[in-house]
Amino acid sequence: MSRTIMAGGTLVTAEASFRGDIAVADGRITAVGADLPRDGAEVLDVSGALLMPGFIDGHTHLDMPFGGTVTADDWDTGTAAAVAGGTTTIVDFSLQDVGGTLAGAVEEWQRKAAGARIDYGLHVAITNLTEEVKAEIPTLSALGVSTIKIFMAYKGTPLFTADEDLFEALQIAREAGILVLVHAENGDVIAKLQAQALARGDTAPRFHALTRPEAVEAEATNRAIRLAEVADSPLLVVHVSCAAALEEVRRAHARGQTVYAETCPQYLVFTYDDLAREGFEGAKYVLSPPLRDASNWEPLWHGLQTGDLQIVGSDHCSFNYAGQKELGRDDFTLIPNGAPGLEERAAVLWTHGVRGGRISEQLFVAVLSTNQARVHGMAGRKGALAPGFDADIVVWDPDRTVTATQANRHGRVDYSPYEGMTFTGGPAAVYVRGALAYRDGEVLAEPGSGRFVERAFRQPAPGPAVR
Ligand code: URP
Ligand code: ZN
Ligand code: ZN
Repeated sequence: MSRTIMAGGTLVTAEASFRGDIAVADGRITAVGADLPRDGAEVLDVSGALLMPGFIDGHTHLDMPFGGTVTADDWDTGTAAAVAGGTTTIVDFSLQDVGGTLAGAVEEWQRKAAGARIDYGLHVAITNLTEEVKAEIPTLSALGVSTIKIFMAYKGTPLFTADEDLFEALQIAREAGILVLVHAENGDVIAKLQAQALARGDTAPRFHALTRPEAVEAEATNRAIRLAEVADSPLLVVHVSCAAALEEVRRAHARGQTVYAETCPQYLVFTYDDLAREGFEGAKYVLSPPLRDASNWEPLWHGLQTGDLQIVGSDHCSFNYAGQKELGRDDFTLIPNGAPGLEERAAVLWTHGVRGGRISEQLFVAVLSTNQARVHGMAGRKGALAPGFDADIVVWDPDRTVTATQANRHGRVDYSPYEGMTFTGGPAAVYVRGALAYRDGEVLAEPGSGRFVERAFRQPAPGPAVR
């Protein structure tokens, strides 16, 4: 059995930073400590670097039909972008066919994921909660799926789910040990506001935000949380965009309710003004919930500090500007919702969070890795630098400075919302199960090298990393 020791780095975990070595064999971490015995191991000198557990992104949409088109990144290009940003595991949304089964969705996504360069898990997004599908939810665990997503938004599409179905899904999921993820926006109100805007001739991208005000998200967040309370079920509210919605999460925590919550980098650095950019440029920033005003940034950072928000996912849902975002040139409701961000997620958080003095490097690791593993059912295998864990390791260069350009990205989409932004802090090298997957701008992991991660939701106990 060949053994490698990564020597002389500073290990950064969700709890502490300390000088130490990591020993790796057969894709797993076998030991962590100061001056580990060499015993003939290959020694990799990483002195000066920060070593972190591989980042996990529990919120991606690769090769997914949505908004009348299909996302630009598939599993090859999307996971190339991921690993170039330090992400070693994603959890992607397999989408139930309206007339199909949940197992069918998982099977279809397993086929798509054959090109994955990093490890992956799968959620199932429910589009049609028939009696058969209700009966099927408890069988997901046997497929290694521990999460389902329910959409309260997108009225007029099969994703939109009525309260009675959300409630019943929560009840069934609770019994089955499945965690429900919710997209919390009031779909009825949005549909009405959109129709009224179009009737007035308000067709530009910025009306995407104006027809999805903060209260629409806060109301749905509170409703989902209260339904989960009645169902006595844990809940994960994904892509929390504003202080008003976060306040509903905070109130649930004050009552002692088990509610996990995710925010995304785009809500920490962009605003409504980006949606109102000249011409049709704002279409690049059409995503849901929409971008808010900058007064929400500090409350969201504060939510990460207090633990009311436990994870930061990318919600990578990439559509090309040419030919895809352009579908909505004359009608903002036809602009496919979503933006790329898998590659930039950690750099945004380091630059604006750690370097910006808003979060510690421990919290950086917690929200990108350790908490992700716990909430998304991979604790014990992913998300920590400890013996027995997969050797998913990011060699992080805190001073690496990169300006986002089309030339230095690794995905397939024709733009980035981060274009021209400069980030300080990024991965110098990334290891997936001990194999070098990325180094100095070059993705080395081959398509198909990623493995499926069977996940099991065990409600994380309150603790330092997950509240
Ligand atoms: O705009 C977004 N977020 N697109 C992806 C689908 C979703 O709602 O997560
Ligand atoms: Zn969503
Ligand atoms: Zn999403």
